[in-house]
Amino acid sequence: MSVSRLDAEHLDLGSGLEVLLQARLAGLGAGDLLEVRVPSRSVALELPAWARMHGHAVVDDAETAAGGHLVTIRRGATRRVLGGDQPEASPPARLRDGAFHSSDMRVDGLVPQTAARDGGFAPIGSVPEPGAPRFDWRLHRRDGVWAPDVAELAEQASGAQWDASDDIPWEAARAVPELLEGAVAQVMTFIAQNEYAALYVPARFLPQMHPSYTEVVMWLASHVHDEARHIEVFTKRALIGGYHGFALASTELSLHSLLAEPDFTAAALLLNVLGEGTFLDLLRFVERHAPDAATAAAARLAHRDERRHVHFGISHVRHVVDGDPQRRAMLVRAAEQRAAKLTELTLSPLLTEGLTIMAAGSMRPAALSEGAAAVRTLMQTMERNRIRRLRSAGFDAPTARYISELHTPNLM
Ligand SMILES: [Fe+2]
Ligand SMILES: [Fe+2]
Repeated sequence: MSVSRLDAEHLDLGSGLEVLLQARLAGLGAGDLLEVRVPSRSVALELPAWARMHGHAVVDDAETAAGGHLVTIRRGATRRVLGGDQPEASPPARLRDGAFHSSDMRVDGLVPQTAARDGGFAPIGSVPEPGAPRFDWRLHRRDGVWAPDVAELAEQASGAQWDASDDIPWEAARAVPELLEGAVAQVMTFIAQNEYAALYVPARFLPQMHPSYTEVVMWLASHVHDEARHIEVFTKRALIGGYHGFALASTELSLHSLLAEPDFTAAALLLNVLGEGTFLDLLRFVERHAPDAATAAAARLAHRDERRHVHFGISHVRHVVDGDPQRRAMLVRAAEQRAAKLTELTLSPLLTEGLTIMAAGSMRPAALSEGAAAVRTLMQTMERNRIRRLRSAGFDAPTARYISELHTPNLM
């Protein structure tokens, strides 16, 4: 049993004395004594009730020569928090040039291979207090959701935010000739339509993600946020000239089948690697052939975000198939199952026409012929790059070609 002393100076209960007492009692063992000098008799009289309420006991109370009181509290065995002791403090977090990078949040660098399926919202480094309600996280295994560079990607996303109201030179979109404007409105409507699926797929997985994989949670949230801005910017571009593009039924069919994929990795393959990968080439095309600076800026800024999304997909799928080569067959099956639902599908002629007119820049026959050639080249570029991305994601050349051929004619 130890005896220690505390001078409360002018503090009383309700003005901070209880904080000081709790801090000192927390460092004592059960049965240890704390002699507290308090400023007045009224505070001394309040302390027995306070101590009892917190599982301790006042065992002595004596007036001091200076007029205050010396109250002796015996520490009880109660704990303020359920569960064991706090672990020893870890070494301080690493800073690089003053920055605390997301990839340095885990002091030991270790990401748990599995997380308790019924665990809760315990931030990295925290000690979960027992007695919390039980959750049921479907995605609670690291290798099913992880990408080695996911922390950096989430950090890049938060550093690369832009504003679809102010960062686009909207006035530039006002001077586009009527026929061209109609084509742009249709292409923009098509892109915006697809951006919804790019938002809803990660959003659907977010509430299934175990909070222990904080970096993936941050990543998915940034992905959702990016796509909300893409919906916004392409919708605004479609609206600005007053035209009404069609939200295409063929696109809906394709996106419906994308949302139906229940597996996180298969969805990453279908959305991030194949769909958003193909959109990278589409956005480059739009940027190059945009009739105005607003359309070009929207495509360029969205492209910058899509590169991150595609990077995550490739990095995650590669991580999964490197860890478990059997998963390749399952991923091929997912692509086959989706393709089986889309056998009737072709790329909408409305989109092909819109892209052709954009690339032609006018309705002159010679220009239209060049526009059509540019669209054909785009389709070839899309296929070549899809295969290249699938190779980077860990598929051999014949499988990459096969999966690319299965990809939806809707592009996303
Ligand atoms: Fe997007
Ligand atoms: Fe995206």
